[in-house]
Formats: sequence, structure tokens, C-alpha cells
Amino acid sequence: MSVSELYPVERVRHMPFFYYPAVNTDTDALTADKQAGFRRDLNQPKAGGRKAILYLHVPFCRTHCSYCFYNIKVLKKTDPAVSAYLDALVRQMAFYAATPYVQNLSIEHIFIGGGTPSMLSDEHLRQVLTALRELFDLRNVQDMSIEMNVETMTASNLEVCRELGVSRISFGWQTSVPRLRKMLALVASERRLANNIGDLQRLGYSLIWDLLYAVPTQTMEEWDADLQRSIDLGVACIDIHRCDIVPPAPLYELVREGRYERVTQQAALDQYLHAYRTLTAAGYVVNTFQQFNRPDRPDAVSHYGRYYYRSSHDILAFGPGGIGVVADWAYMNARDIDEFVRRSTGDDPVLGCACPVTPATWQERDFVLGMGQLWSVPKALLTGPLTAQQGAALEKLIRHGAMVETEHEYRLTEDAVGYHFSIANEFVTPEQTARNVGYLRSISKEIVWRAGSRTEMPPPTADVGEVTDTRSAPAAT
Ligand SMILES: C[S@@+](CC[C@H](N)C(=O)[O-])C[C@H]1O[C@@H](n2cnc3c(N)ncnc32)[C@H](O)[C@@H]1O
Ligand code: SF4
Repeated sequence: MSVSELYPVERVRHMPFFYYPAVNTDTDALTADKQAGFRRDLNQPKAGGRKAILYLHVPFCRTHCSYCFYNIKVLKKTDPAVSAYLDALVRQMAFYAATPYVQNLSIEHIFIGGGTPSMLSDEHLRQVLTALRELFDLRNVQDMSIEMNVETMTASNLEVCRELGVSRISFGWQTSVPRLRKMLALVASERRLANNIGDLQRLGYSLIWDLLYAVPTQTMEEWDADLQRSIDLGVACIDIHRCDIVPPAPLYELVREGRYERVTQQAALDQYLHAYRTLTAAGYVVNTFQQFNRPDRPDAVSHYGRYYYRSSHDILAFGPGGIGVVADWAYMNARDIDEFVRRSTGDDPVLGCACPVTPATWQERDFVLGMGQLWSVPKALLTGPLTAQQGAALEKLIRHGAMVETEHEYRLTEDAVGYHFSIANEFVTPEQTARNVGYLRSISKEIVWRAGSRTEMPPPTADVGEVTDTRSAPAAT
């Protein structure tokens, strides 16, 4: 049986797992015991230290793009809420930086995302980048990425980044097709894009952008034109995002009202495979399932995006909704921005929920995230024997030609491309499926709470394949 027969298209899973375990406020509510355990483990340096990646969240935007479901707030650059937020963010960073466990970490890759970090004034950007340097030992940092937006990035923003060690700047262009830009409420003009490209080049930055596919009504010709333009412009790193229509994205309401039809699984798979074939034929190499890089521009690769999915690195995440794994605890920070600011006193990790991560869960995580996002699992990361489920899944995948086993790793084959999340799902344990259902319950409660009575969410379902993660910390951008 071929891989496509193994996973019929209507059952093909899309992005169910950005992080694992799916820590959530429903199944992993904070208790006094957990808070004490988390603090206790942060107060013990781990022998030999660990490698780590670090994420900072800037949850502000100038406008709300119609497709966007991220944890953001629309405001003006000069709004006093920005200063209050940054002070709280720095207090949270300081809390962690003072702990023996974090002091013993080797921080290697940093990502500042959002929302839109280019919403910060030069002074605010300087404040954040300086705090990072002052609070953490950055001697082992190999790259520092920041997300910007075409409408809000400025030449002086970029100069501050250059001066303070940012090595990689990305932004969401999404599409060049005017009618789609209108529908997606993308306000930036071609002229602004050209200016930004000029500024980035002048400062020696590679061109890195996000594109959207599987947008309602987007044709294959339009998608192909966006890919071709990226190649022609020499974009060094192209992140392709499948457009997920979920609340609180404004487009969700329009799709629900029937103004636009949902994109079928088949059309989304065809567009993904078209991108994979087009970009690899043009010489791009795969970093994560959605990130394609020109091999001659190593500075454009998001290593943060890669190591997010490996047990080799802890994840320090700061800001509302940030998701991390530190000292064998998976956690999510409080998601509401106002609550985050209120609770960040400097003596509190500002958790929203947390769960302990055992060696067995780290190993499951390597399989689920490794197969889904990176299409491989290095054997060196696996610390325990294979479980019965892992052994059976590997045997089945190898038998059907979806995977090969080499001396050093398990690796998906070319035939498995497009089916990677269905394959990852083979490694999810029943216990984690229950946690995913809890995750859906927690986000549906939150969405109903945020949108008042406007949005009725469907009841949670055990089939998490169709549901997108509305986490705030991007994993592979
Ligand atoms: C967190 S956003 C930050 C980008 C930055 N604020 C900008 O607008 O350029 C990162 C990327 O997430 C992607 N994204 C946002 N909403 C999405 C959705 N509904 N489905 C898929 N990807 C989405 C977009 O490609 C976007 O560029
Ligand atoms: S895509 Fe970027 S600018 Fe648009 S709403 Fe989302 S985070 Fe904000």
C-alpha cells in the first residue's frame, strides 16, 4: 500500500502539533504543588547544563490582518500600553535569568516574534535587545531573528537591529496578488516593499519572507506566481504557511457566513506539494516542513525554528502565551496581555499552566515533532528503548515505504512528503490525545470569552487533525 493510500486525503492531518506535550489550562491547570515544583527545579543547576533557545513575544500590531489568529492587540506605536508591557516582559526575563538552572544553560538561538516587533520604537527595541544582553549570557548565541511587518518596519529599526546583534530579519509578505491582499487586509504597498528590500540589502540582511497558501479562492496559478516571484527576487528563506481559518481571525466569520468557501484538503495538499517541488527544483533546501532556504545564504536559516522541535534544547519563552520547556517542565505563560502585565512582578514566572516532562515524554516529543516538522529523528536523541507503539509505527512506516532507517536516524522518504503530520500522529500516545482534547476545550473557552457571544465554537473533538494551534509563539518562522 502506498503512503497516499495509507493516509486518504480527507484524513491527512495538518499541523496538529507545534509543541508537545500540548500543555494547556484545561488539563494542566496550575496548582500550588506545581508552582513549587517549577520553582524548585529552576533553583537547581542541571549538571553539565543544557542547550537552549529563547523566544520573546511582542503582541502588538498596527492593524489586524483578516486571516491572523495570533495572540495580538491592535494599538498605536505610541500607546503607553507598549511601555508597560515591555517593563513586564523584562521583569519576567529577569526572574528566570536569576535562577541557577537558567544561568547554567547555553543559549544558542534567539527569536523575537509576535505580533510585530517592528511596532516597537527604536528606543523600545533598544530596551529589549539591551535587556537580553544584560540579563543572559549570550556568548554562545549563533543567531538572533526578529519578525517585522512591511508596513511598520523602518530604516532606523533595522539599524538598531544591526547595531545590537540581530542576524536575521523576516516579514510576512503573504502574497503579491492584489485581490488576495485586499481580502487578507494586507495594507502594505509594493512601493513600501521595495523600500524595505533596499534598506535590508544596504544593511547586509538577507531577504526572508512568509507566504500564505490554501487561502480561500486562491488559485494554483496565483500560488505559483507567488512562488516564482520569490525565486526571481532571490528570497533567501521562504516560509510557506497554510492559511488556517480559525477564530479569532476576522476571516473566520466571513467563511462561517458562507462568503468564502473553505479550501479542500486535496487543494491544500496539492498547493503544498507544488511549493515543495517548485522550491526544491529551484535549489532551495528544506529546513522545516514549511521553511525553504537557499543553500548559499546560511545566515537566512532559522535555527531557532529547527531546534524548537528537538529534545537537545530547552525552550525559554517570554511574553503572554509563550510556550517553553525548561528544567523538564512544559509551560505556557499567562495568555491575556493585561493579566501578564499585572502578574509580572519580577518574583513570579507568570505561568498560565505547566506539566512535568519525563524522559519518556521527551522521546515521544522527538518522534512527534521530529517526524512532523523535520522529517527525521536522530537516534542519538532517543534515551530509552522504543515503546511498543513507537516500534509498531516505525515498522509500519518502513514497510509502506514512508520511512527509512539508517545507522544514525529515522528519516521520512520523498513519498511521505505532504503526509508528515499523519505520520507524526502515529507516535502520539493516548494520554497526549486526551491532552489535545483538553487543549481544544481550553482554547474554545478562551475564544468564546474573547469574542463574547459572537462566536460559537464547535464542541471539542478527539480528531485534532483539522484544528490549528492558536499558540502565540511561532515555532518555525
Ligand atoms: C505571527 S505572524 C508575524 C508576522 C508579522 N507580524 C507580519 O505581519 O509580517 C507570522 C506569520 O504567521 C502566519 N500566519 C498568520 N495567520 C495565519 C493563519 N491564519 N494561518 C496560517 N499562517 C498564519 C503569517 O504567514 C505570518 O507572516
Ligand atoms: S500577520 Fe502579523 S501584522 Fe498581521 S495581524 Fe498577524 S501578527 Fe499582526
